[in-house]
Amino acid sequence: MPSITVRNLDEDTKQALRERAARNGRSMEEEARLMLAATEGQSPPPLTAKPSTTEHEDAFSKADNRILLIIGGGIAAYKCLELIRHLKKKEMAVRVIMTRAAQEFITPLSLEALSHDKVLTNLFEREAEHDIGHIRLSREADLVVVAPATADLMAKMANGLADDLASTCLMASDKPILVVPAMNPAMWAHPATRRNVKTLEGDGIHFVGPNSGEMAESGEAGVGRMAEPLEIANAITGLLDSSPKPLAGRRAIVTSGPTHEPIDPVRYIANRSSGKQGHAIAEALGRAGAEVILVSGPVNIPDPKHAEIIHVQTAREMQKMVETALPADIAVMVAAVADWRSAETADEKMKKQDGKGPDSLALTENPDILKGLGHHHNRPQLLIGFAAETEKLEEHGRAKLKRKKADWILANDVSAENGVMGGDNNTIRLLSNKGVEAWPTMDKTEVAERLVERIVAHFETETVET
Ligand code: CTP
Repeated sequence: MPSITVRNLDEDTKQALRERAARNGRSMEEEARLMLAATEGQSPPPLTAKPSTTEHEDAFSKADNRILLIIGGGIAAYKCLELIRHLKKKEMAVRVIMTRAAQEFITPLSLEALSHDKVLTNLFEREAEHDIGHIRLSREADLVVVAPATADLMAKMANGLADDLASTCLMASDKPILVVPAMNPAMWAHPATRRNVKTLEGDGIHFVGPNSGEMAESGEAGVGRMAEPLEIANAITGLLDSSPKPLAGRRAIVTSGPTHEPIDPVRYIANRSSGKQGHAIAEALGRAGAEVILVSGPVNIPDPKHAEIIHVQTAREMQKMVETALPADIAVMVAAVADWRSAETADEKMKKQDGKGPDSLALTENPDILKGLGHHHNRPQLLIGFAAETEKLEEHGRAKLKRKKADWILANDVSAENGVMGGDNNTIRLLSNKGVEAWPTMDKTEVAERLVERIVAHFETETVET
């Protein structure tokens, strides 16, 4: 059985092992022993024995520039360690997939230490597949980088082969792909590789390198050296800036969160909305190139990076800010606006009067912001609302579609047992005059991405039709 001495590991590796052992409630030695036992005769296990469910994933999915780095099996694989350091310095989030061959050159452990994320190696890693899934894995990134891209990996890509996690993610990806070839000059010059490069270029794949110079094999020189880490990092920055912006030139208004309707200086009427769904939609629209104004009620989550945010407290303030932000091509009203407010707001804290029971609270109706937009002379071209229901989802959703003159309603079941309000997941039915689309339960960021896909498709069809 193979063995390692923990004290001889480098500091980064030791730290990764320490964290993993702590997570699993074991000593570092015990953890290392189990990992070695698990690797005997098979590919190494994922570094996080029990993937720490949402923490890493959330950090990745919410990061600004998300890189899925696929490491192929070549001697240049070690350069990926420095590449990750450069990307981290640029505040990018890096998730790593290694091919089986790559693991002959560098260890998942050192990559996990640098990327601060679990390193994925195996298509049939049950836990990883359950938690992330290869389709989501390849779609959640903003850019996929293949380095080193071996002749074999490029041949697989050019021919659409998908027999391991790396090649499956490459096939499933809808994001730009940067290939960083590294191989012996004779292999690079080989007619088969020439054909594959041409095919991949035709498929819209981007390349950086290979450079010319000395090879690892003594006496070999020519074109085939992998581009240097800084060069790759710069190519990545360039590509991220030019990622497709299908909503460029469109203006969107999004509302999010609850509203707080004051009763007196310390009390207010509110609801359980967290703002997660509205913020995710604003962010996804911004990433797709739209100019986004997000009008948000009080929430405890960070402002999205790709939207201009206006913070408000009450429904009336929200309505005013939304109408001031007009005209817009798109409006998505996600906020759980309080339907009623206190008819009177006391200037001083209302005092409890012993033995008399509470005063009754007179309520008055708040303006309906979505309905107001539906009937506005400057009505946004595509007006989208939500319907928060606890029963008769479709029936109530359809009634709102009509009453508020919206184009689409995303109906969701907000019954307490579903945990939608304040939670991370949502199950949507998209209602429009074309019918109904039932979406499976997914993370709110995925709901946002899917909605933006539908919005992009809507405007594309419209352009074709006119
Ligand atoms: N909405 C709004 N202004 C309000 C109330 C709701 O803009 N004063 C919007 C929400 O942002 C959402 C849609 O209208 O897009 C439906 O909200 P919902 O709370 O589901 O319905 P209500 O209109 O409040 O009706 P009800 O409470 O009877 O279900």
